[in-house]
Amino acid sequence: MKIQIINGPNLNLLGKREPGVYGATSFEDYLNELRGRYPNLQLDYYQSNIEGELIDKIHEVGFNYDGIILNAGAYTHTSVALQDAIRAVKTPVVEVHISNVHKREEFRHKSMISCACAGVICGFGMNSYRLAVEAIIEL
Ligand code: DQA
Repeated sequence: MKIQIINGPNLNLLGKREPGVYGATSFEDYLNELRGRYPNLQLDYYQSNIEGELIDKIHEVGFNYDGIILNAGAYTHTSVALQDAIRAVKTPVVEVHISNVHKREEFRHKSMISCACAGVICGFGMNSYRLAVEAIIEL
């Protein structure tokens, strides 16, 4: 099985960025652990701070991967273009957030992408990504 993890803006700073909200682990360290847990899965990783590059990656993998795990960061709350990209491809997309966005500011309660995704996982810290892997395995 091939799964593409895509992280959006500011998530390159995981481990350094607001550790009280997002934890103290870098994504690279977490990814090593995740790959160790699932040796039979191909878990590819891509991060960009640029909306169009996230869309390009969804187009690139969206017809030949088994699942996409997408943490679109703040674009979650704004991007009709990402919603359209998710709708445009065949591969199911699981929306992920590290924090529980519903416990936070009101502008984070609205997602522009949830309606196009297979499902949403949020609020379990980095473990949200592992739960998304489990969800894709069972799809
Ligand atoms: C986030 C939540 C978003 O509201 C925020 O803009 C992020 C990270 C999360 O993983 O909790 O950048 O997607």
